Amino acid sequence: MIEQLEAIHQDAQQALAGIDSESALEDYRIRFLGKKGVLTQAASGMRMVSKEDKPKVGQKLNEVRTAITLAVEQQAADLLAKKDALVAQGIDVTLPGRRPQKGALHPLTQVMDRGIRALRQMGFTLASGPEIETEFHCFDALNTPKDHPARNEKDTFYFGDGTLLRTHTSSVQVRTMETTPPPVRIIAPGSAYRRDEIDATHLSVFNQMEGLYVAEDVSLGDLKGTLERLFRAIFGPKTPVRFRPHFFPFTEPSFEIDIQLQAKDQASRWIEIAGCGMVDPSVFAQICDSRGDDVYDPDRVTGFAFGLGLERLSMIMWGIPDIRLLIENDQRFLRQFA
Ligand code: PHE
Repeated sequence: MIEQLEAIHQDAQQALAGIDSESALEDYRIRFLGKKGVLTQAASGMRMVSKEDKPKVGQKLNEVRTAITLAVEQQAADLLAKKDALVAQGIDVTLPGRRPQKGALHPLTQVMDRGIRALRQMGFTLASGPEIETEFHCFDALNTPKDHPARNEKDTFYFGDGTLLRTHTSSVQVRTMETTPPPVRIIAPGSAYRRDEIDATHLSVFNQMEGLYVAEDVSLGDLKGTLERLFRAIFGPKTPVRFRPHFFPFTEPSFEIDIQLQAKDQASRWIEIAGCGMVDPSVFAQICDSRGDDVYDPDRVTGFAFGLGLERLSMIMWGIPDIRLLIENDQRFLRQFA
């Protein structure tokens, strides 16, 4: 019986050498290890083996079965490796790989972040207010009379119940002072709405960033220093900044700020970039009225405020010719900022 088993093992080893496909290997497995296979048949011969020989023969049977089983598994692995190698032959490893697409922040978000970073370094904190505003917060409290052109039906989205879509973020100045005693030093980025005809430089929804600093002894020098520093942080440390007298109802004196930019191969030019001024004492008086106290007593506190358009800022920064590019979500445009 032992010899018979050894002969089967030898047979199996020889037969395996010629196996070159998965299906042939499966036939082979059934032939030797299957329920009616050669080994099973040989095992049935155990009945005839004498008692004292049984352990030895049993051990041999197990040895041969294990050896053939392992050989089948090994052959299966070899066949698979050969198949993989064949597939890999068709792969051109010199082809450039597919790059992962780079994500990026929207250009508006990028300028906003730069502005916020620079102002936070100077001690400003973020504030916000509602986009649906009262006429009081948007105009009256900001010393803007009923007949002021900014309040015109044709320029402002009114809801007809005394509320409107805020035309500027300056309403956040009022809301901040109503709830917070001085000193305050805030910036408020956010949307503003005007009934403008949409063209290359106007949208009816756009973004501003408001700033307000109120304390005792805030001076025009503080205003100039802060804003020069802000614009140099955004546009470069040598950027010339100019303050041109202007008018806003809620600041006195008021200025428009221009920066001088030098586009490639072009004469340098001054570009208007923000409005600002010293908070008008009548605004403080109105705040005292609303609060019912005198912590904003115009004889004691002074302050400055500024507001800038973020779309305009990013257009200047990157030479974007049409404001509508900023809201179209065209990947060909946006990819350039990655
Ligand atoms: N709110 C003004 C505007 O939208 C800008 C401004 C803000 C001017 C703060 C002075 C002070 O044009």
